[in-house]
Amino acid sequence: MSLPPARILGIETSCDETAAAVVSDGRVVKSNVVASQIDLHAQYGGVFPELASREHVKVIDVVVSEALRQAHVNPQEIDAIAVTQGPGLAGSLVVGLNFAKGLALASGKPLIGINHLEGHIYSAWLNPTNTATHQPPRFPLLALLVSGGHSELILMTDHLTYQRLGGTLDDAAGEAFDKIARLLDLPYPGGPSVQEASAAGKDTAFAFPKAMLEDSWDFSFSGVKTAVLRTVEALQEEGRPLPVEDLAASFQAAVIDVLVEKTLLAAQEHKVREIIVAGGVSANQRLREKFLAESKHPVHIPPLFLCTDNAAMIAGAGYFHYVKDDFSPFDIDALPTWPLS
Ligand code: KG4
Ligand code: ZN
Repeated sequence: MSLPPARILGIETSCDETAAAVVSDGRVVKSNVVASQIDLHAQYGGVFPELASREHVKVIDVVVSEALRQAHVNPQEIDAIAVTQGPGLAGSLVVGLNFAKGLALASGKPLIGINHLEGHIYSAWLNPTNTATHQPPRFPLLALLVSGGHSELILMTDHLTYQRLGGTLDDAAGEAFDKIARLLDLPYPGGPSVQEASAAGKDTAFAFPKAMLEDSWDFSFSGVKTAVLRTVEALQEEGRPLPVEDLAASFQAAVIDVLVEKTLLAAQEHKVREIIVAGGVSANQRLREKFLAESKHPVHIPPLFLCTDNAAMIAGAGYFHYVKDDFSPFDIDALPTWPLS
């Protein structure tokens, strides 16, 4: 069945990126503008929510205008406005939501509230270089969604149809990377700096626990986090210098190997055709290499700039709601509508 063409404007302000994008037909990225606040928050070692929302207010207008300009369209030439509804920082989300509502009212275009996690999943449909050979994912599929706030295994039998198989019982994978980075005195954001330190370390230097949680598709990263903490404390008590690279590499291996191995097991057991990996942690090099080396199923992992927060993924997800006439009322709040909250 061929779906109707549509051009969607996406807006994303759930955390510390102010982003806007125009995407055609859920796949073709016409523009993708991201204003990052990393430098602003780096001095605090993490996201400072009050500063984040103020920064969104300052730049949202320019970011949206720039996304429209780069796509060579005006608000009248788009078909709908998709905006992240949640989950995320409430004060940040309302900036994007209110801007999207204003624009929808002024232009008479429909509004579509998108769950941020759904957006990450739909990054796998985007074809940023517009290559003819790019294949969209095929159902049934298994999605591993690994971000700063979530680590979920989700089964999809069709568009917008989600069955949650499991998720983290404690810290999200990205959250564990961020906390270990702080412990090892590595700069914010934690994921990329742990990865960088790991490159010079030995992943077998420390045997940190890999919690496979047999008979469940859930994850748990508090054990490995505590093990790193205890090791650091013991080394400090002995007055020994911290082998930061070895600690980072061993921690990264423990988290990534569990993510990959459980996903591959779940894909086999649920007899899916393909696998999607999305969310900030899918930028991790070890994770990408391990999936590609070990998976018997085709694996869709977005290019690095679409792994972390962006608005192209929100516009992409918005298209699949648009084709079902699934629009949102103007009084939607900064709360996600989807079961994965
Ligand atoms: O999807 P995202 O940009 O924001 C959320 O929705 O949370 O994910 C951000 C998370 C952060 O915890 C960050 O440390 C992690 O993704 N991350 C990584 C890497 N790049 C970003 N974790 C591991 N390795 C990376 N290369
Ligand atoms: Zn995200």
